[in-house]
Amino acid sequence: MTTTNIEALVRPNIRRLTPYSSARSEYKGRADIFLDANENPFENGLNRYPDPLQWAVKERISAIKHVPVSQIALGNGSDEVIDLLIRIFCEPGEDHIITLPPTYGMYQVSADIANVPVKKVPLLPGFQPDVDGILAAADQHSKILFLCSPNNPTANSLDAGAIQQLIGQFPGIVAIDEAYIDFADQPSFTEQLATASNLVVMQTFSKAWGLAGIRLGMIFASEEIIGYFNKVKPPYNVNELTQRAALEALQKETDYEEKLQTIIDQRGQLTSALDQLDFVQLIYPSDANFVLAKVDEPQKLYHYLTERGIIVRDRSKVLMCEGCLRFTVGTPDENEQLMAALKTFEN
Ligand SMILES: Cc1ncc(COP(=O)(O)O)c(C=O)c1O
Repeated sequence: MTTTNIEALVRPNIRRLTPYSSARSEYKGRADIFLDANENPFENGLNRYPDPLQWAVKERISAIKHVPVSQIALGNGSDEVIDLLIRIFCEPGEDHIITLPPTYGMYQVSADIANVPVKKVPLLPGFQPDVDGILAAADQHSKILFLCSPNNPTANSLDAGAIQQLIGQFPGIVAIDEAYIDFADQPSFTEQLATASNLVVMQTFSKAWGLAGIRLGMIFASEEIIGYFNKVKPPYNVNELTQRAALEALQKETDYEEKLQTIIDQRGQLTSALDQLDFVQLIYPSDANFVLAKVDEPQKLYHYLTERGIIVRDRSKVLMCEGCLRFTVGTPDENEQLMAALKTFEN
């Protein structure tokens, strides 16, 4: 059980902030005529502002994820969630975040935009957190520790015991980015929300739900943290079309499950096929929808594939990923085309 004093971690200006009060959130009853929000009255399906707190979407997410609605908030992609967390907790010039490279790049970018320094504690060989190193680097100004599990670009899940220890001992917020959790065998850390007041779990509709285009990210945390999130988020950060598309997808769970299973099967096939190629030195185990592989001549292979209209991600210059390309799992047909191209590569 961790009982962090969240209020003490929040920036003083955010604690004091009087949030914007939108017309849509002020009047909560039923009515026939809405003349309160300076909207255009002529119905076209989109002339009204969307629900600022997205109740319908969150109720459906709550049922699927087994997290109470009061502990869920939504953002314009996880990228907005990351940005808002930094703005809630980190005082520029005083506080910092901690990241574990190699990892997802937006923690650093959002911190840079907010003028918040980033302390980096690289993953250990095997891409697991250096728990002692993280705790040694942490002090009262370490407001957020970003843990990405499964991690991008290394594809592995972080050790659950190590995460648990960090939740227990890190002095600030432990934000676990579970963008790829649906593809993993490990359970989500949302299961621990009831016992860890400093825990924030982020998920997204961009990966397993197949909706990167609608920009919808989820944050699961204590009611107190969700309260601060809703206080600072732009009032209508999740637009009407996004809310509708998410509701539609959430009603088609079998479609989600079938596609998820196909991607997981294809990941296995892609891994075995890569394993047959003599210029592939190492394939890292994947709990995500991509495979990281170390190859003989990454840049040459990258350009060879590009010339054939196949774009993969060159990660060969990233710390600890030297020589690596990252292959997103495509459709069965796309993966076959990738494999056919790889078979004719001569290095
Ligand atoms: C670890 C991780 N988190 C978050 C995101 C972005 O999520 P969203 O599309 O919801 O902003 C990505 C995208 O690649 C990612 O790899």
